[in-house]
Amino acid sequence: EAHFGADAPLAGRRALVTSGPTHEPIDPVRYIANRASGRQGHAVAAALARLGADTTLVTGPTAEPDPAGVTVRHVESAREMLTACEAALPVDVAVCAAAVGDWRAAEEAAHKCKREGRDAWALELVQNPDILARLSQPGANRPPLVVGFAAETDAVVANARAKRARKGCDWIVANDVAPGTGTFGGAHNTVHLITGDDAEPEAWPRLAKTDVAERLAARIADSLGEGS
Ligand code: CTP
Ligand code: CA
Repeated sequence: EAHFGADAPLAGRRALVTSGPTHEPIDPVRYIANRASGRQGHAVAAALARLGADTTLVTGPTAEPDPAGVTVRHVESAREMLTACEAALPVDVAVCAAAVGDWRAAEEAAHKCKREGRDAWALELVQNPDILARLSQPGANRPPLVVGFAAETDAVVANARAKRARKGCDWIVANDVAPGTGTFGGAHNTVHLITGDDAEPEAWPRLAKTDVAERLAARIADSLGEGS
């Protein structure tokens, strides 16, 4: 529920958020996934909606409930996520918080793969589309503000800067997911916000993922407010 009505900072704005892991099918009973919980992405969608944005959340399979006041599109694979994101355009801001599977099986078997008759099984993988890079491509439908997350275990800021440049997004939230931080699947997040090539990375304190979401949504509202 919006707390601001027509005076809300993001009233009249449209937002797109991706969240969760993806499930990449191998055969009718198996898939490739990762440990993402969807907590951070869902919290970002909820925070943008509370600031008044007309918000679409495209999420892979997670245990998180659908956030109140948000249009939720449930998908499984990266390719389905891309299709659902493109259908949600145009938007004023896109935030890609999903842990999209980088790889999928080259072929999805129509029948359950049986173990009988083989001692080992080499699964051929191919790359999935990069949703953040696609949304960042110049074009009529490119959101004016595209925000990515970068999950890194080492050289967090340097790797995130390189990722921002490679993908062409405007901002990147560098996410320390080193073992021991408890970030992946946990309730807290330690991030740096990088808003430009020359911008000094902002080190945020270790915060609840809900508080990271609030701060990010407030920054997005400030930025879109300046533009109009
Ligand atoms: N992302 C995406 N589609 C993909 C892969 C990543 O939209 N197929 C987005 C994520 O949602 C995140 C950003 O890209 O906002 C960075 O994801 P990350 O996994 O950190 O980067 P990769 O480019 O996949 O690099 P790597 O996993 O090898 O570090
Ligand atoms: Ca990745």
